[in-house]
Amino acid sequence: MHSPTRRTAVGIIGGTGVYDPRWLEGAREETVTTPFGAVTLTAGRMGEQVVYFLNRHGPGHAVPPHRVNYRANLWALRAAGVTRVIATAAVGAVNRAMTPGSLVLCDSFLDFTHGRVPTFFEGQAADPALPDRFRQVVHTDMTEPYCPDLRARLAAAGRSTGAPVVEAGTYVATEGPRFESRAEIAAFARLGGDVVGMTGVPEVVLARELGMCYATVALVTNYAAGISPAPLTHAEVLEVMARHQERLRAVLGQVLPEAGLERRCACATTDPGWEEDPA
Ligand code: HPA
Repeated sequence: MHSPTRRTAVGIIGGTGVYDPRWLEGAREETVTTPFGAVTLTAGRMGEQVVYFLNRHGPGHAVPPHRVNYRANLWALRAAGVTRVIATAAVGAVNRAMTPGSLVLCDSFLDFTHGRVPTFFEGQAADPALPDRFRQVVHTDMTEPYCPDLRARLAAAGRSTGAPVVEAGTYVATEGPRFESRAEIAAFARLGGDVVGMTGVPEVVLARELGMCYATVALVTNYAAGISPAPLTHAEVLEVMARHQERLRAVLGQVLPEAGLERRCACATTDPGWEEDPA
C-alpha cells in the first residue's frame, strides 16, 4: 500500500478540444511501448505532482472515436506509473436539465458501443506477453465505475469556477463517428441517460480493470439530436469546447495538486495485481 505521503502520477486524457499540455511544467514527450502498440504521452509536473497527458484523438484530432486504441492508451498510462486518471469529454445533453456549458461528473454509464475490444481479460486468447492474470476470465465490478473521490474534487473545483456543475449523471456511450438519431436519443432518455458521447466506454472499463481511479469531467457542448433545434455539427462541438478551454484548465489545475495523494477510495481493488508493474 502507498504511504500517506507518497504520490501517484496522475493521468489526464484530453478529449475533443483539450489537446494542449503546455500548461504542464517541464512538458516533454515520452513514447511508451505497450503490448497493444506505442503511445506518446506528454510528461510534466504541476508543482510536486507528476502528470502524464494523453491526447485521446491523437495529433490534429486524426483518430475517430471508434478507432482510438483504448487498450494501448490505458496500458501506457498505467505503465508510466499512473493510478488515477481524469478524462475530459465533450458530450451532448440527453437530459434537458444538463444545459450546454455545464460540467457533468458522470457516476454511471450505458454502453451502446459495438466493435471495440472491451477488456484486457481475454482468457486464453490474450497476448502471451501479458502477465498471467490477464489470461483469466475476469468479470470486473461496475457498480461504481467512476472514482467518487475524484468526482467530488472535480465538482468542487468546477463550482469554484462558477460553472454549472451536475454532480452525477449517466453517460451513454455510442459507437460514432456519426451523431445519434432522434429515436436513439429519445430511447436513451427513457433509459435514464443524461449525456451522450462516443469515447467514454471502454475507456472507463479498462481503467477499472487495471485498478486505476477514473473520472470524467464532461462538458455539455450541445443538446443531443431531436432536442437541439438545429442539426448537429462537429464544428459546433469544437467551438463550444474552445470557449470553455480556460475553465476546464482551471478545474484540472485545482484538482491536480491533490489528486495524486493517497487513494482512500476502493478503486484499486478491481485489480488485485495493481501494485505490480503491468509491463
Ligand atoms: N453525441 C455524441 N457525442 C457528442 C455529442 C452528441 O450530441 N456532443 C458532443 N459529443
